[in-house]
Amino acid sequence: MNEIFRRISVRKYTDEPVEPEKIEQILRAAMAAPSAGNQQPWEFYVVRDRAVIKALSECSLYSACAAGAPVVIVPCMRTKGLRWERLGQIDLSCAVENMLLEITSLGLGGVWLCVTPEPERMEKADAALGLGDDLHAFALVPVGYPAEERPQQDRFDKSRIHYI
Ligand SMILES: Cc1cc2nc3c(=O)[nH]c(=O)nc-3n(C[C@H](O)[C@H](O)[C@H](O)COP(=O)(O)O)c2cc1C
Repeated sequence: MNEIFRRISVRKYTDEPVEPEKIEQILRAAMAAPSAGNQQPWEFYVVRDRAVIKALSECSLYSACAAGAPVVIVPCMRTKGLRWERLGQIDLSCAVENMLLEITSLGLGGVWLCVTPEPERMEKADAALGLGDDLHAFALVPVGYPAEERPQQDRFDKSRIHYI
């Protein structure tokens, strides 16, 4: 799959707005991800409000680039009523990777900014979105047309493969 080998973390974006149908396509990709027991513990916030984006970008030193994005998607995880609670974070991770691949495929750029499992970042992101006790921000995914370009780093390392 070409997108796997073209995807890079994009942290600089042009001012061009992202079309609503592209946002929906990214979220279709997210919800197409596998999840343990098909529990789909996710909700997705699409944030265009500049004040909320600014608050999200201040979750940590490492989320500052979100401030420059026209839109930030926040995949959130339900924590109540899950049959496979300990697998929820893995489910959300699958969804985020699908999003990043679809973002690449659509000619857009994005990056996974860590929120969960860092308590301070979760508290700040949850507060920015006004979330309650049973739904928590999992990651920030700023999305926009890329204002930076580079080839993907080649991390293939045969010595990491162990045939038995
Ligand atoms: C779980 C996870 C958390 C990450 N958190 C951050 C983050 O908080 N801030 C950031 O700028 N990049 C973050 N990244 C992106 C990584 O820094 C990036 O994927 C890595 O440097 C490799 O670069 P590439 O994605 O361009 O191949 C995160 C990636 C993952 C998978």
